[in-house]
Amino acid sequence: MIQFEIESDRPLFEAAVAFAEAQVKRLIERYPDFYPVYTRNGRWKHEGPSWTHWCDGFLPGMMWLFHRRAKAGSADSAYWLEQAVRYTRPLEARKDDRDVHDLGFIFLPTYYRWYQKTKDPALSEVLVQAGKTLALRFRENGQYLRSFVAENSLFIDIMMNVGIIFYAARETGDRRLREIALRHALTTRRYLVRGDGSTAHEGLFDLETGEFVREATHQGFRADSCWSRGLAWAMYGFSTCYEYSRDPRFLGTAMDCADYYITHCPADGVPPWDFNAPAESRKLLDTSAGAIAAAGLLRLSRLLHDPVKGHFYWSTATVILRNLCQKHLAKDDPDWEGVLKGGVYHVHKNLGVDESVMWGDYFLIEALEHLLRLPAEIRHAKPENAG
Ligand code: GLY
Repeated sequence: MIQFEIESDRPLFEAAVAFAEAQVKRLIERYPDFYPVYTRNGRWKHEGPSWTHWCDGFLPGMMWLFHRRAKAGSADSAYWLEQAVRYTRPLEARKDDRDVHDLGFIFLPTYYRWYQKTKDPALSEVLVQAGKTLALRFRENGQYLRSFVAENSLFIDIMMNVGIIFYAARETGDRRLREIALRHALTTRRYLVRGDGSTAHEGLFDLETGEFVREATHQGFRADSCWSRGLAWAMYGFSTCYEYSRDPRFLGTAMDCADYYITHCPADGVPPWDFNAPAESRKLLDTSAGAIAAAGLLRLSRLLHDPVKGHFYWSTATVILRNLCQKHLAKDDPDWEGVLKGGVYHVHKNLGVDESVMWGDYFLIEALEHLLRLPAEIRHAKPENAG
């Protein structure tokens, strides 16, 4: 039944992907070999700070998706493959990067897809090394992967990255790596996901005892508020965690987060930047959180044994994507260089506020590509990245 809904949206979604391809081609031609983070007044290239170095996988990640969509043997297919490889290869050195907690963001959209296409073991080796490097952030005392800001800090965003540790564990048979990924996810579930399914951005721990001390935030409104992108990372990240572990606690957590998102969002599914910001501030949306939520709901729906709930999540993702494509694409602004307007990076630092952000564009395309590729096979297929 749901495929009829998708069929009626197909022209809208295909046009959105075509628009994104044109914008990315323009970016490659204007600023070759540049990996943007956020726009300023709609322009990618600027000298503004990026706070942390986490976004380089998203642009090539889109290129891999465009390549997969292109007709085999076509000029487009060859073009996107060449560009995807060209922008992916320079990321290899990041497999040893101990300064960030974002190695999943960098390698899963890029090396993972490259490896899926070629099955070249050298590419899998890069992924395994990235997973091992990320696992070095694990603190026994506290049982979490520390964030980039401090030893005592755990971020909800890290849930998007534990998948690469599960991958490395599976490929190497290293039980210790798997244990680290599981323990990190259980700690995050215990301290950053609240009883109502909302999430805290950060948890702070006592370094001596490993005890949880309190909630905190960098990008959200307040320590005890629900930063919408953090919630979207949790929906998606706990789904991935369930795919690898098959531990039903993670499926339950992903669903709790999804249900909070759905019940607290405006009817079009595009959230305010923080669900608990004051009313005036809540007028500022974060379309990137909407795109991540749509991608996460599609993954989650395919993992569920309950067809009614699965159908509900799938339909909700479709609604979010429909609204993003109808109301938030930069199509009517020829000077705008991003795909999706209305993203937010960091309100308090005034970075990328009401702009395009590279992960917003990436997760929009990931979700659309998923939907357009698999309209009739909603469940029981093996989700991507779960191996
Ligand atoms: N650093 C991840 C985010 O801004 O959502």
